[in-house]
Amino acid sequence: MTPNNFQNTKTQPLKKHRIFNNWQVVTDGWYIAAKVSEVKKMAILSTIVCGQKVVLFRDSTGIVHCMDGFCPHMGVDLGIGKIIDDKIQCFFHHWQFDINGNCVNIPAQEDIPKKACLQTYATKEKYGFIWVYPLAEAPEDLLEIPSLEGQEITFSIGKSFYRRCHYHVTMINGIDPQHLKTVHSLDIDMDLSIDEKNGSTIEIELCGEMPEKNLAERMMKKMIGPRYAYAMKYAHGCLGALTLMKDVNLFGRPNLIPRMHMLFAYQPIDGNKTFVQPIYVTKKRKGPLGFIISTFLLWATKRGFYFLQGEDGEVYNNIRFNTSNLLPIDAPVARYIGYINKLRPSLWSSGDIDSTEK
Ligand code: FES
Ligand SMILES: [Fe+2]
Repeated sequence: MTPNNFQNTKTQPLKKHRIFNNWQVVTDGWYIAAKVSEVKKMAILSTIVCGQKVVLFRDSTGIVHCMDGFCPHMGVDLGIGKIIDDKIQCFFHHWQFDINGNCVNIPAQEDIPKKACLQTYATKEKYGFIWVYPLAEAPEDLLEIPSLEGQEITFSIGKSFYRRCHYHVTMINGIDPQHLKTVHSLDIDMDLSIDEKNGSTIEIELCGEMPEKNLAERMMKKMIGPRYAYAMKYAHGCLGALTLMKDVNLFGRPNLIPRMHMLFAYQPIDGNKTFVQPIYVTKKRKGPLGFIISTFLLWATKRGFYFLQGEDGEVYNNIRFNTSNLLPIDAPVARYIGYINKLRPSLWSSGDIDSTEK
């Protein structure tokens, strides 16, 4: 729990939720475990994902595997062991585990106890990272960028950072309509559309008429058209894909300005901080000109993010988020919280999950 959750508890009681803003719950979903380049053949990487100790290694065919990081014999860190014939061998007493987490050899005896096995985790290589899912088989795929599904993409990995609040809270930044006006000076009345097709994702689109109160706004309206729209697609409560420049025209011509895409991957650190990894994504374009356009777009997307982050990033370092006084205009936030509270707690959750508060 963040320290400020202990403050003002009598005078400003915190509204508790089953999953939203609850540090004890880690929901099923895809989490970053390492950079692709950090996981090599014949070597074991021991790391922490969402507070859990796991090991990662590449087998002889190059496929990455992930499993619990403590040996089931006496709890030694398997990261100090070695890979022999695609099996992890513990450093201490040389128990060996295959890629399914089964113990297949104990030098001291022939019998292998039933409990001598490791929980394994599904893995995926994408966007320059190894992602893991807190189950042996993932029932859902890693989020694809909306409107780039199935297409070849190129990406740029942004500088990661930390926030001193729960990631469910910092993820709200993209869909809080009031602060667009008060912080980002975007004086647009936004219409809201929400698409909650399956339990693990929710897409929230905000669109409105471009304002024309001053010269700059009128020029902007001439350039990019009368409508402005952007969308956030959330997956598993730990990933957010932001799409900017949705459906804008350039001097009346549609599709000339490409959409800009940012993916944010979140996970809890030390049970009280949030790790945020931005990834900038665009379509892979052909030829040298295509390369230049894609590179420029990734650069512009990154600049756009730094600009937005500079205006309100600090809010999320001191916030003690409370949902007692949400207004009708906060409808996207309320819907998003409802979506989070319906997600599935994973094997990586701790403590009892209160089933009464939704
Ligand atoms: S602690 Fe791993 S084999 Fe004994
Ligand atoms: Fe913002």
